[in-house]
Amino acid sequence: MKLMIVGSAGQVGKELVQRAPAEWEVLAVDRQQLDITDAAQVSHRVAAFHPDVIINAAAYTAVDRAESEAALAYAINRDGPAALAAAAQACGAALLHISTDYVFPGDKPAPYREDDPTGPTGIYGASKLAGEEAVTAACPRHIILRTAWVFGAHGHNFVKTMIRLAKDRDQLSVVGDQFGSPTYAGDIALALLTLARRVADGQDVAWGIYHYSGAPYTCWADFARAVIEQAVEAGYVARLPDIRPITTAEYPTPARRPANSRLDCRKIEAAFGIAPSDWQAALRDIAPYA
Ligand SMILES: NC(=O)c1ccc[n+]([C@@H]2O[C@H](COP(=O)([O-])OP(=O)(O)OC[C@H]3O[C@@H](n4cnc5c(N)ncnc54)[C@H](OP(=O)(O)O)[C@@H]3O)[C@@H](O)[C@H]2O)c1
Repeated sequence: MKLMIVGSAGQVGKELVQRAPAEWEVLAVDRQQLDITDAAQVSHRVAAFHPDVIINAAAYTAVDRAESEAALAYAINRDGPAALAAAAQACGAALLHISTDYVFPGDKPAPYREDDPTGPTGIYGASKLAGEEAVTAACPRHIILRTAWVFGAHGHNFVKTMIRLAKDRDQLSVVGDQFGSPTYAGDIALALLTLARRVADGQDVAWGIYHYSGAPYTCWADFARAVIEQAVEAGYVARLPDIRPITTAEYPTPARRPANSRLDCRKIEAAFGIAPSDWQAALRDIAPYA
């Protein structure tokens, strides 16, 4: 099995590198080693390594900055995956690609299913949706894993921010009217590696889009409380601050976020036996975030 991991220095990328089975031949490349916006380089590197599976963990993920950097967001989130998909198809590799809950408008009163109509509310979501379309068009042997609210030991994320703030504030205002689910980056990596193994084993794979995020659903304010409670218990934060849930309107950001970004993850469990990420379990050891 030859696995190529693209975007290997990101939150998910690093977990993929750590967790890839030792018996596989793995080529992991970060942005310095392969810039996915350089289509000629992508084609060259993929053809030279000739992988069975490519996992694309590279992305432009700055949701607010994307509003003023649309060209760059599209270059990385649409044109990059398009180049990877073309290169994968040319050498017979399958492409596992990560997408986002932000492809949805957020006005559905129930969790989103894979075939629900999309309708991103900002440039980041729109560029990720364009990436999904590019992958689907260029490489039939693809899986697009839509995930949400990613946190892990590596890089910047909400969990680390909340612990940092709680260390020196008595009160925190956190958005309480956006609902979704946190997803542990290590679990995303394991889900992708499980899918890669299925491909490598030559088993029948139902290609297409799958939702994979955490359970149970929550809102940002309750997620913050769960994080900080763990940090207090472990002694990293002196005491639980007063966590005040505020509305999205009270916390204006350049990009509008979906009010509901809960993903219905039953399809991936039925097809591959991959259960939702247990984000509460992933927080039990809070040390990596503190
Ligand atoms: N983070 C979330 O909450 C979230 C939610 C839903 C879905 N997702 C999706 O999950 C996936 C993984 O996200 P993540 O949180 O692991 O993101 P991340 O930590 O921001 O990692 C993304 C990686 O991609 C690299 N990259 C950026 N431009 C590149 C380019 N042109 N060529 C090659 N690499 C490039 C980045 O390198 P530099 O750091 O050097 O720029 C970074 O290492 C992405 O597809 C993202 O859209 C994330």
